[in-house]
Amino acid sequence: MAESSARKIVIFDTTLRDGEQSPGCSMNLSEKMEVAQALVDLGVDVIEAGFPIASPGDFEAVSEIAKVVRGPAVCGLARCRTEDIDRAWEAVKHAENPRIHVFLATSAIHREHKLKMDKSQIIQRAVAGVARAVGYCSNVEFSPEDAARTEEDFLCQVVEAAIRAGATTVNIPDTVGYATPAHMGHVIRVLRDRVPNIDEAIISVHCHNDLGMAVANSLAAVEAGAGQIECTVNGLGERAGNCSLEEVVMALRTRIDYYKADTGVVSQRLVPTSRLVSHITGMHVQRNKAIVGRNAFAHEAGIHQDGMLKERTTYEIMRPEDVGFTTSDLVLGKHSGRAALASRAKALGFRLTGEQLNTVFDAFKRLADKKKEIYDADLAALVEEQIRGVADVWSLESYQVTSGTNRVPHVVLKLRKGDEVKSAEMDCGDGPVDAIFLAIEELAETEVVCKDFRVHSVTVGKDAQGEVTVELEYQGNTYRGRGISTDSIEASAKAFLNAINRIVSLGNGEPETPRPNV
Ligand code: KIV
Ligand code: ZN
Repeated sequence: MAESSARKIVIFDTTLRDGEQSPGCSMNLSEKMEVAQALVDLGVDVIEAGFPIASPGDFEAVSEIAKVVRGPAVCGLARCRTEDIDRAWEAVKHAENPRIHVFLATSAIHREHKLKMDKSQIIQRAVAGVARAVGYCSNVEFSPEDAARTEEDFLCQVVEAAIRAGATTVNIPDTVGYATPAHMGHVIRVLRDRVPNIDEAIISVHCHNDLGMAVANSLAAVEAGAGQIECTVNGLGERAGNCSLEEVVMALRTRIDYYKADTGVVSQRLVPTSRLVSHITGMHVQRNKAIVGRNAFAHEAGIHQDGMLKERTTYEIMRPEDVGFTTSDLVLGKHSGRAALASRAKALGFRLTGEQLNTVFDAFKRLADKKKEIYDADLAALVEEQIRGVADVWSLESYQVTSGTNRVPHVVLKLRKGDEVKSAEMDCGDGPVDAIFLAIEELAETEVVCKDFRVHSVTVGKDAQGEVTVELEYQGNTYRGRGISTDSIEASAKAFLNAINRIVSLGNGEPETPRPNV
């Protein structure tokens, strides 16, 4: 728990901006609202809700989040351009505590090749950008993009000028994930030693994970005096992602003795929030992922199990319940009632309305007819499927497929769209799943390329539910889908349809507006 002498580190979550920039992680408005609410419950300090100039959808999401979120600051990203900053302000102005985040690249590589600007032009543009944002609100963050590869002297000059122009947070991005912990710590110390007005702003870090060091680099920055960490749930973000929120938060909390710093994050919300983001984005969390992975607290080795039974701390530095894993062995079955279901769902971190509970209960009864024991993981997958589905433009009515060695599969598929049921019967594909995918493409009149297809079992046993995830490419964009069922072919069909529905609901079949190159 927090030591009274611990320094409070500001947690700036950018899941909805940098995280959403990962291919295939686009979210629609209601999904973004749900993630924003989860971030409030998680206790982050700043929510970077999007890049308002990037598209009308981004603008709307930032502005809706600004209107409803209470507690954390709501931030919109802008390049150092008048139109970006004005648009960002339009979007965040309703927030209880609005923040504008302006950025401009400062490294020689970016100056020469991307911006074609010299150092004095960069300083001028950065100062003008910060000043324009300060004209709108007092909470302004400035990021010298690619700071980790910027010459130290020049970085100090830019940071000093940005603070003089009114920036209250100066963020040091390792945009390409090039830094090492010692390097990052050094940069922060240089800024603290050489920038005369550095104490007038909070120093922040924004580390990418290209070399797998984003969390270590962020921690090194904190050790050197940074006061804000930019991070994302499940480490989502451009390329290899950003600093993982759950890891950096638990590193600080667990090693508070060393860092003498902590955050306001409610650690018990980490697993539910990770699950939510994984479900919404379709981005699977690897089993051995620190803190929130399914195996993060599983002890397999006999010696470890023996040690755990004697004294938990022999092999455990955190308790699973501290990060939001439930520890109960309660298993539901077909005789379990609505109250038992509601209580398990609550323990798993879901807040269901009466209507949602009814829907989940009906689905639970259907599942209990097929599967004797329903574990927490089954229930979580079921709740997510029922309450967090993408709006079902197309849904699976029924399927039949016959296939075998040396024969082309025969598929009969019925899909529902509103009141209309469309059916297709065809011989196609090189297996039952491929045949169903082709039939769906035919009925939905949407041609896609399947880039990835994975089947996982939700729990153990022959009757375990299969969870299928697919990644489809459509008009140059990536869309993910997920489906669960005790029948893995049906789960595949549902996952494929989920991605097709995402194509229809996110892009209306049109490619998304390309984002300005960040
Ligand atoms: O990685 C980066 O440099 C960014 C900035 C916009 C902060 O995302
Ligand atoms: Zn970034």
